[in-house]
Amino acid sequence: MNQPFPASSGALPLTDAPLQLSVIIPTFNERDNVTPLFERLKVALAGIAWEAVFVDDNSPDGTANVVRALARQDQRARCLRRIGRRGLSGACIEGILSSSASFVAVIDADLQHDETQLAKMLGILQAGQADLVVGSRYIEGGNSDAFNKQRAGASALATTIARRVLRVEVNDPMSGFFMIRRDRFEELAPQLSTQGFKILLDLVATARGSLRIVEVPYTFGSRLHGESKLDSMVMLDFLGLVLAKFTNDIITLRFVLFAMVGTLGLLVHVAVLYVALDALQLRFGEAQTVAAICAMTSNFLLNNFLTYRDQRLKGFAILRGLLLFYLVCSVGLLANVGVAFSIYDQEPTWWIAGAAGALMGVVWNYAMSGLFVWRK
Ligand code: GDD
Ligand code: MN
Repeated sequence: MNQPFPASSGALPLTDAPLQLSVIIPTFNERDNVTPLFERLKVALAGIAWEAVFVDDNSPDGTANVVRALARQDQRARCLRRIGRRGLSGACIEGILSSSASFVAVIDADLQHDETQLAKMLGILQAGQADLVVGSRYIEGGNSDAFNKQRAGASALATTIARRVLRVEVNDPMSGFFMIRRDRFEELAPQLSTQGFKILLDLVATARGSLRIVEVPYTFGSRLHGESKLDSMVMLDFLGLVLAKFTNDIITLRFVLFAMVGTLGLLVHVAVLYVALDALQLRFGEAQTVAAICAMTSNFLLNNFLTYRDQRLKGFAILRGLLLFYLVCSVGLLANVGVAFSIYDQEPTWWIAGAAGALMGVVWNYAMSGLFVWRK
């Protein structure tokens, strides 16, 4: 008999209950962890109407395929796959914005967070006792013994910096495990940084005391499969986030990195100029041109590696980006010289005019690179 809609395989009786909780799970190379986590969520959230959104940044290990296979079996699972973008915070933000329940949780895929706390966290939000519930390792009953000495020290230092500099009143602002009311999240979302690892810290710092927060203790477990993606770049991101929040978002991490790379470029320029004049015996004009091209090229590569590592250009796009970068910098040089001249006209102090010109050049290069070279 022709049966266009085969009977359900019995995998999932979809409840009619309105959705209560969206669980967002950022993944990068977590192929072997997603299914065990999903199984545990089913147990931990029994009786609750929930959905799970896995946000995968195009993991080379094929995590997205595993999630899709899960989603075909069980409609509570969904895969949001991002291409050409990387970053834990950005993944969490997009996942939350793509989901629908009034309450949203963020939990790691590697089973280091404790999913059995989710029901309790939801209860606290539903009872109106808080806007944000934080899974905390650093309060009575919590524990992070799974950390090695080095990581424990780094975590403690980062926590102290965050609490002192940004005055956040949370015991574990570096935690990546939390649940929040959707309406409060959406209010704050436009001001959140998509770069970096620390979305919870960003949320709490951005809210400036306007969120009612409750902390729930949990034990930070050991990673089930695979390895951590936390590296020294993540530390840099953290310092950038602190700086950005401290200066009320006037100075961003990206700008700091861009300016640092630019300063390094100056050294490259002088070094190449020296070699070209001294060892290669080029004429000054030629030597200066070679030095400028070398400096621009190294700036471009470093920015692609560091400043824009979450949007890194690859393959053929590198060449195109490099040519655009040359163009942007050339115009930046004109802006630099123009500003320096007009200031020198008014106030003939060479270093003021020079520094103002250089600042103009950096700001121009930064703004235009963001628009044309590493555009989203
Ligand atoms: N989509 C996406 N993109 N996911 C990512 C990325 C990324 O670029 N980088 C990491 N993830 C995912 C991982 O797959 C994992 O599910 C989760 O984010 C945490 O990453 P780990 O690599 O396991 O980091 P960790 O264990 O060192 O850090 C965790 O512990 C910290 C507490 O000290 C994270 O939960 C942090 O948020 C938390 O602050
Ligand atoms: Mn982990």
